[in-house]
Amino acid sequence: MFASLRIETTSFSKRILSNRYYFRSMTTMTPQLKGTSLFKEAAFVNGKFVSAASNERFSVKDPATGEIIGEVPEMGVEDCKNAIDVATASLKTWKKTTSKTRADLLEKWYNLMMENKETLAQILTAENGKNMTESRGEIVYGASFIKWFAEEARRAYGDIIPSPAEDRRLLVIQQPVGVVGIVTPWNFPNAMITRKLGAALAAGCTAVVKPAPETPFSALALCELANQAGIPEGVINMITGQKHTKDIGKEMATSEKVHKLSFTGSTAVGKILMEQGASTIKKLSLELGGNAPFIVFDDADIDAAVEGAIGSKFRNTGQTCVCSNRLLIQSGVYDEFAKKLVERVKKFKVGHGFEDGVTHGPLISEAAVEKVKRHVDDAVSKGATVAQGGKHIKGNFYEPTVLLNMDTSMIISSEETFGPVAALYKFEKEEEAVELANDTPFGLAGYFYSKDMGRIWRVAEAMEVGMVGVNCGSVSFEAAPFGGIKQSGLGREGSKYGLEEYLERKFICMAI
Ligand SMILES: *[C@@H]1O[C@H](CO)[C@@H](O)[C@H](O)[C@H]1NC(C)=O
Repeated sequence: MFASLRIETTSFSKRILSNRYYFRSMTTMTPQLKGTSLFKEAAFVNGKFVSAASNERFSVKDPATGEIIGEVPEMGVEDCKNAIDVATASLKTWKKTTSKTRADLLEKWYNLMMENKETLAQILTAENGKNMTESRGEIVYGASFIKWFAEEARRAYGDIIPSPAEDRRLLVIQQPVGVVGIVTPWNFPNAMITRKLGAALAAGCTAVVKPAPETPFSALALCELANQAGIPEGVINMITGQKHTKDIGKEMATSEKVHKLSFTGSTAVGKILMEQGASTIKKLSLELGGNAPFIVFDDADIDAAVEGAIGSKFRNTGQTCVCSNRLLIQSGVYDEFAKKLVERVKKFKVGHGFEDGVTHGPLISEAAVEKVKRHVDDAVSKGATVAQGGKHIKGNFYEPTVLLNMDTSMIISSEETFGPVAALYKFEKEEEAVELANDTPFGLAGYFYSKDMGRIWRVAEAMEVGMVGVNCGSVSFEAAPFGGIKQSGLGREGSKYGLEEYLERKFICMAI
């Protein structure tokens, strides 16, 4: 695909240093994954790697080059039903295991992930495109949820309630919800699965997982390691599919045998699943879209704010649900912040995630590029100015972009861009910033920079989001609750609260 840009001569290395786009020898960078033990081109049901009932398959592409990485089964509703039956059967024994047994198995799984970090990171970069540093970071982050929930498994305490009746004793115990359906996105192909599966398994639930069709290999590698860790067959089932994704989602949402559905993805799809889940009063965890504000006040440490914005905005090439989408900068520091941000963005190296020195990989698909183009073109047509980037490069690559003079009439104000575009708005007063920040149906993450103690409390409390970063551009830890308010979703993942999502409380009243 990038053949025309492939140059083999040594004089090229000089050129590459002065070039922000690293498109040399992209395909030769990719390590050989096929045939290695963690690279599975099959779905995973009842402890075995299997094909689809139809025997159909679909291919998965490297988003940087368009080359085929491998194939996985094209599963449908029949395969999903079968996996649900398997999870239902295995629940009978898994839910009765002790929390210590489950904790020990999760701990083993965690250790295997850490031992295989490099291979897992390579698979991740191959199918997602993020650079190897980010992929390694994701593997460690993803594994941390398994470790965390191995520990939390043993803390699912109940209660004994002082009884208002002399002849009654009142107890509350916590029990697993049951069979869980899990649907995950491509932007964190490892961590979005471990965050859910860790909690589900710790609680004593069994699961049917549908990873994103763009990134099934990271998910399947986890299944191989789960097998090696000794997690019993049928506890984790992973079905792959592209064509029938909607039908599989519907099956999970409507099946009476699935007791809970946990989904990370768009708000639009979340709404459909919620509607479908109504038929069975499905328990839901929904981690949906955001439109994160990132506020910089006049009194902020501007250099720290620029660094925070770089991480928050451009991590994973802008493809995270907590990426700041609207940078609201107070007028007194607007020009300084913009200038420093542009200087940093200019230093980015765009190219294949396997290439050393590349900071930003491709977007996941052509559709993703189209969306970014639409957002930038719309902003420019309404008066925004391009301070940096602003152009489609080639294939799935888009220039890291900084836009100035943004206003609320532009699409970026209301829609998540999910790409490498920093859009800068100017404001005068604190109340104005808070109002702008909250002027969205979404409420996932929000960030702000200030050194004023009173303002820090006021703004942190006033922001209508589930997670606030104060003087920091990242809010994700296994020990902290991740999730949104408003149309950004339901429930929390990670932390002690994350386990509760997979537990039901049972009240036991005893006559004595
Ligand atoms: C990946 O990108 C980050 C910045 O986003 C950079 O610090 C790191 O060095 C890059 N990794 C590699 C291997 O070049």
